[in-house]
Amino acid sequence: MANHVKEDFKPNRLLEVLAPSDAESLHPEPGELLQRSVINLDIIRGLAFRNVIEVNQFSRQEVVELCKLASILEAVDIGPYNPLEDLIVITAFFEASTRTRTSFESAVLRLDGKIISIPDGQITGAKKGESLEDIGEMFNAYGDLVIMRHTETDAPERLMQNLRIPLINAGNGTGEHPTQAMADWYALLKWRPELAVNNPRKTEDLHLGVLGTPGSMRAVKSFVLMSLKFQEHLRKITFVSEMADPFGEVLKQEVEAAGIDYEITNDMNPTLPDMDIIYMNSIVHVGDDYKNMDRMFKLDKNSPLKEDAVILHPLARLAELDTSLDDTSHNLYWSQAHGAVFIRQALLTSVMGRYGRLPENLPIK
Ligand code: CP
Repeated sequence: MANHVKEDFKPNRLLEVLAPSDAESLHPEPGELLQRSVINLDIIRGLAFRNVIEVNQFSRQEVVELCKLASILEAVDIGPYNPLEDLIVITAFFEASTRTRTSFESAVLRLDGKIISIPDGQITGAKKGESLEDIGEMFNAYGDLVIMRHTETDAPERLMQNLRIPLINAGNGTGEHPTQAMADWYALLKWRPELAVNNPRKTEDLHLGVLGTPGSMRAVKSFVLMSLKFQEHLRKITFVSEMADPFGEVLKQEVEAAGIDYEITNDMNPTLPDMDIIYMNSIVHVGDDYKNMDRMFKLDKNSPLKEDAVILHPLARLAELDTSLDDTSHNLYWSQAHGAVFIRQALLTSVMGRYGRLPENLPIK
């Protein structure tokens, strides 16, 4: 455990399980993020009772403070403080999920909250034609917060018509996946804590490669939008896609407005050896179904990667990310997936206004 964490806190027993000593994969230490500055509680306080729908409703500083809070929750055993005691969280998933629903539910339970779990929206009245607007009205009486995933992009807007408790968007069609982008950047900030520092001058010279089509892949889109907030650390973004226009209208405007150097290509080979961070994905949601896209951009342990390049993937993976990379130092994707529990704990504690339950002698000002 990092030496800044006071010794009367028990270390989180998960640390040993998540970072096995015999693995080559990267498991950056959570405490490093707090060595430069303590958490700014005013910023955390400002997140209380907010809906979480898209990346751009968050400032960079809010993301950094959430990541710092997550690093505390990862480092120490927070169970005895019961931050979500007496609160009920409804997880309503109208689309399949391994990680998002389970990590959110794990986060709630580890914070001593309670769960009403709807793992398949088709067991609700939606199967009989009930509207999301009416389902939202019902949820007001049943829980204190809703976490919803849906195949349709306008689903959060429809649920919120009558919802008076906070909503966290856990993925809406081809729209966004904002909490995935938080998990992505939590992994990156643990890997390189200096990226958390808002320095007007470039302090890093990182080349980001995006293997996939953000306009069709919500996790990739949210990751790119989040990455633009840290753009002074990025030298360039290379988008490797089978589509000539991989963005869609909104993202194109955002990337252009950011003024960052970027290129679009359908040939990863010339640029792959120069990339420092590689974000990849191949699953596209098409209505209630899925398709595999950009599948020709495959990586395995023999790919010509920079020695210290890291790979992120929101998962689930198909053939684009070979398992031969799992036990290499390029693998940041296990840390990215496991860390999702802690960033979601940080978000839930903040959105439910339960920061006051955190122990006083943590490094918080
Ligand atoms: N990253 C992600 O959204 O995974 P799931 O689809 O398993 O939730």
